[in-house]
Amino acid sequence: MRLEGLTTAVTGGASGLGLAAARRLLKEGGRVTLIDLPESDGERVAADLGVNATFVPADVTDADQFAAALDIADAQGGLRGLVHCAGAGRRMRILDKDGTPGSLEDFEFVIRLNLIGSFNALRLGAERMARLDVVDGERGAIVLTASVAAYEGQIGQINYTASKAGVVGMTLTAARDLASRHIRVCTIAPGIMDTPLLARLRDDVRASLEATVPNPARLGHVDEFAHLAGTILENGYLNGETIRLDGAIRMTPR
Ligand SMILES: NC(=O)c1ccc[n+]([C@@H]2O[C@H](COP(=O)([O-])OP(=O)(O)OC[C@H]3O[C@@H](n4cnc5c(N)ncnc54)[C@H](O)[C@@H]3O)[C@@H](O)[C@H]2O)c1
Repeated sequence: MRLEGLTTAVTGGASGLGLAAARRLLKEGGRVTLIDLPESDGERVAADLGVNATFVPADVTDADQFAAALDIADAQGGLRGLVHCAGAGRRMRILDKDGTPGSLEDFEFVIRLNLIGSFNALRLGAERMARLDVVDGERGAIVLTASVAAYEGQIGQINYTASKAGVVGMTLTAARDLASRHIRVCTIAPGIMDTPLLARLRDDVRASLEATVPNPARLGHVDEFAHLAGTILENGYLNGETIRLDGAIRMTPR
């Protein structure tokens, strides 16, 4: 698909990787709807991004809110791209130091946000794309966001790992499921990216994180994520694959 004139929704678009993806798609001449929580910076961010950016507050785990937000995106010229970045972690262990079992609520929260939210993105995004005409052999493409924790989850990430491994697991099945609709699905599995969360780290902590990345020995730039998300939307032969974007990092147990 050509990015110029492309109508895309970016979830989690008010911050970090989603915001970078939105910036890139706008720079390439697209129209972008940022979907993020009402308490996010979305309103201000969209105003800064200019007339081709719109903010719609919605929770991606809520079927009605997410559907209504995607309808607004769709009304901007037919939704053909969905970059799903809304997600988060919540540290937990199976057993705490004193032997108390980890909270089921913390496990369910992260599964609901990262895994069920991603399924909601697939089903509601595809519903809208499936109504569009086929152009150059396709109707649209969906980019999900996993993490290298899907493969090498660290201690304290049991819920996050399960959720992101679920996203990786869904990718090929989703691409197969939506193939007859001419909708592609790919997932990006980032390593350690330089997002606002990491900007708050002490310099020595940041340097030790950078040293864990073989080459280049630094954190990933959000623009590198945005570039790959744009490439996936553009390249009609990328489908059913999870792409690690990680400088060859393999996470250690802690
Ligand atoms: N930053 C990294 O190093 C990194 C590495 C691997 C994977 N990831 C994944 O990338 C994605 C984006 O991460 P980020 O670093 O940009 O985080 P971020 O916190 O900067 O941005 C996430 C955005 O999602 C929004 N959000 C959270 N819950 C939501 C919900 N229920 N509905 C709608 N929006 C919601 C937040 O308000 C926020 O604006 C996440 O899925 C994260 O797990 C990030």
